Amino acid sequence: VPIRKLAPTVAARIAAGEVIDRPSAVVKELVENAIDAGACRITIDTVDGGASLIEVADDGHGIPGAELALAFERHATSKLADEADLDRIGTLGFRGEALPSIAAVADVDIRTRHADDAHGWLLQLRGGTPSAAVPIARARGTTITVRELFADMPARRKFLRGRSSEGGQIATILSNVCLAYPGISFALTLDGRPSLQTEGSGELIDVVRSVHGAEIAAEMVPIEPVVTPAVEVRGCISNGRATLPTRAGITILVNGRWVSHRALGFAIDEAYRTAVTVGRFPVVVLDIKVPPADVDVNVHPRKSEVRLLRERTVFACVQSAVQETLRQAHAEATHGVGVGLGEGEDHEHAMWVEGLRVLGQVGATYIIAEGRQGLYLVDQHAAHERVLLEQLRETWGRRTERQVLLEPAVVNVAPRHAAVVHEHVGALAEAGFDVEPFGRDALLVRSVPASLAHRNPLATLASAVTAVCEETTAADWRERFAIVLSCHSAVRAGDRLSTEEMEALLVQLGETELCGACSHGRPTAVLVSHKQLEREFGRDYR
Ligand SMILES: Nc1ncnc2c1ncn2[C@@H]1O[C@H](COP(=O)(O)OP(=O)(O)OP(=O)(O)O)[C@@H](O)[C@H]1O
Ligand SMILES: [Mg+2]
Repeated sequence: VPIRKLAPTVAARIAAGEVIDRPSAVVKELVENAIDAGACRITIDTVDGGASLIEVADDGHGIPGAELALAFERHATSKLADEADLDRIGTLGFRGEALPSIAAVADVDIRTRHADDAHGWLLQLRGGTPSAAVPIARARGTTITVRELFADMPARRKFLRGRSSEGGQIATILSNVCLAYPGISFALTLDGRPSLQTEGSGELIDVVRSVHGAEIAAEMVPIEPVVTPAVEVRGCISNGRATLPTRAGITILVNGRWVSHRALGFAIDEAYRTAVTVGRFPVVVLDIKVPPADVDVNVHPRKSEVRLLRERTVFACVQSAVQETLRQAHAEATHGVGVGLGEGEDHEHAMWVEGLRVLGQVGATYIIAEGRQGLYLVDQHAAHERVLLEQLRETWGRRTERQVLLEPAVVNVAPRHAAVVHEHVGALAEAGFDVEPFGRDALLVRSVPASLAHRNPLATLASAVTAVCEETTAADWRERFAIVLSCHSAVRAGDRLSTEEMEALLVQLGETELCGACSHGRPTAVLVSHKQLEREFGRDYR
């Protein structure tokens, strides 16, 4: 076949495929248009997971009758005036692609009335071709009805998942959009059944309640806002008790746009690393604002990713905001217990530690101990890791807390890591490792942290350096190094421990501030209370 230009209808359909790949994409585009139009109330109704019908109605400013047909032409937009605007996008839409793409793959009816028009207009499009607009009576705003999506595209229609999974995807997208706009009231129905409803109260926590339920909303704490010229961080996070089995509760918003962003996702993971159990994820709404000129939205056909000019700054701000909020939430939670019992937290704590009696080790992995409240099973690796991390954080920068080696030792590292380490010798020194570059692939070590002196510090240094350097986005190198170092030098599951070692570990664990956190953080310890024991053995039965 010779080279020929595609017929315009075919070309339009191919282009549309990039923007509209499934029903939820239609919902996202229409809802974003409604938001850009300044709507206060947006309703979304779908039938058959959106395959048969999607209708989005808003009370925004509407489209002037004279521009209605133009809105469905490709690259027609009211949101960019000139080329320079592309570098400072303040609206969700900017390409002039969504409406023509939808009209290329479905039947579309639009009813709209602009604030300045005396009446509204109805325009119908079949196969992307508009009929003549008809005057209608209606209030200000726009209603777009999309029917028989992909009807002429059997291949794509076949790939639509079942009605409930497409409906679920629509609800997921809308949930995240709602979280970005607490001031707008959204109402979604799937096959006539109400799904997601938000009030538009302007309070983020109200939206969290609608999206994630009251139980999770009760465990959310507001992020202490960070406001700098380069970035503003707001939102709310769960305190470590409320977790989900997937990342679905993590919503990252950049300038009002729900995006997926690997580095920011990683910043959240990092902040929660010691606060949630492996395999559980926090609920987080991260509302980030950056100057429009600092963000590139034009990198993904569905605008679901953005590039940040000052990624490192944003990363660091997010991480410290989340960390600080978590720390405060934890401090308050622990304090709250003390008040409720009428006793100081420290007192409670001391009794707990003193009352502990080591009974033995299970599977060379867990320490089993008896305490005032019942039986404790302690994960020896997690416990030791936590103790070491607290010690490192505590002694950070204190020169006395290092042990000078009689003879400097050479530690080998990969050449590509050596360069990274050279940048961070300051951080290493603060941790207690006095290190100098030594050739292309080695470090000369003059001292090691005293707390690790008996834990094979040189091998640990080598493996920790490798681990941190392999991470692509370790913005807070020092903190990451401390975490990895603690993990690598802690006793492992499978290490046999003497009773004295176990006792020493439990006492140290008690002394660290996080000890009381077995119920909040990653479960370092599991308590089987006296009550539970009684219940198990039927002794509570009278
Ligand atoms: N619900 C609405 N209310 C008011 N105007 C609308 C609405 N939907 C679309 N428009 C108008 O139609 C134009 C075209 O919409 P379309 O979604 O195709 O493009 P866009 O939003 O400008 O860019 P993008 O393709 O990135 O979404 C918009 O620029 C806007 O002027
Ligand atoms: Mg749009």
